Amino acid sequence: MNGIKIRGMGRCVPDHVVTNADLAKRVETSDEWITSRTGIQHRHHCTLETHGTLCAGAARAALERSGVSPDEIGACIVATVTADTLVPSAACLLQRELGLPHDIPCFDLSAACTGFLFALHTVECLLNASPRKFGLVVGVETLSRVTNWDDRGTCILFGDGAGAAVVECREGWPSIGAELGCHGDSRLLRLPGVESGERSLISMEGTRVFKFAVEAVPWCIDRVLEKAGCAVEDVDFFVFHQANARIIDLAARKYHIPSEKYYKNIGEYGNTSAASIPLALSELEDLGRVGPGSRTLVVGFGGGLTWGGAIVGFAD
Ligand code: UT7
Repeated sequence: MNGIKIRGMGRCVPDHVVTNADLAKRVETSDEWITSRTGIQHRHHCTLETHGTLCAGAARAALERSGVSPDEIGACIVATVTADTLVPSAACLLQRELGLPHDIPCFDLSAACTGFLFALHTVECLLNASPRKFGLVVGVETLSRVTNWDDRGTCILFGDGAGAAVVECREGWPSIGAELGCHGDSRLLRLPGVESGERSLISMEGTRVFKFAVEAVPWCIDRVLEKAGCAVEDVDFFVFHQANARIIDLAARKYHIPSEKYYKNIGEYGNTSAASIPLALSELEDLGRVGPGSRTLVVGFGGGLTWGGAIVGFAD
């Protein structure tokens, strides 16, 4: 199988910033508790923006950055659990908005916080079967709309945002070598959908999900490194799903990853689920910390339960 590399990233976040102090006016919490337990200081919540505007904003930015035109796209996947409508999918609406070709697959993918990784793997498979060699993958969430404001254990965590990647598939490039997994569980992390008889609000058994995450991350790193036949030192940069700064720091400590080789932007955005990894990659690309020639190991984990890792490169 031919592999994909990133041609360009893009992102779009709502303007409105919600601070920990703002939340302390709404629920019984404190800046000290939120910062020390999660690393979160701010999150961005939609006011005028919508799921559709965030999605299109990030996708347009990625197309511009990559220099790829909409008619060159061979597949479009939107990873999300908060689309405005189940039908049409966010990806179909994006197809119309951007003028993507009509003869390509465009669909939404639901794998919660691992959604962007599931989508990268899927687009790599699809592009291998397509005459067009570029793909568009967006991770976007408007989690502020499904936040339970009666639950201080979760309402402080989530933010809205979108990140997008234009990827290229070329003969001779190695596969991203995705290692993905899931374990069906409807209690630990839940967002009810239609006909469930429950309001569509997020609930989470935080401590148990934390324990799952600290086991899932090493599983992903070990499997991905083994498949790629390389060691931790061969990786130029690590990007972890931004769910909790403590989870990221534990992984960094376990693998002796120096601080200049991993990234945390959870302080600014909170947990943005499927958007968190592409948001981080987009910022890192702008900062010049990842780019052509660099090998980035990306790890995601979350609801489903789902988890996954891959080694992502950037095209010259
Ligand atoms: O993105 C998908 C994957 N998600 C994750 O990986 C999230 C994993 N989980 C976590 O990040 C953490 O479990 C949380 C940040 C959600 C919670 O942190 P924790 O250290 O596990 O706290 P806890 O739920 O065990 O609560 C400890 C205490 C409790 O009080 P008592 O029972 O000890 O008196 C809570 O009631 O903290 C209390 N508490 C709060 N206090 C102030 C819970 N939420 C708050 C709050 N402010 N917002």
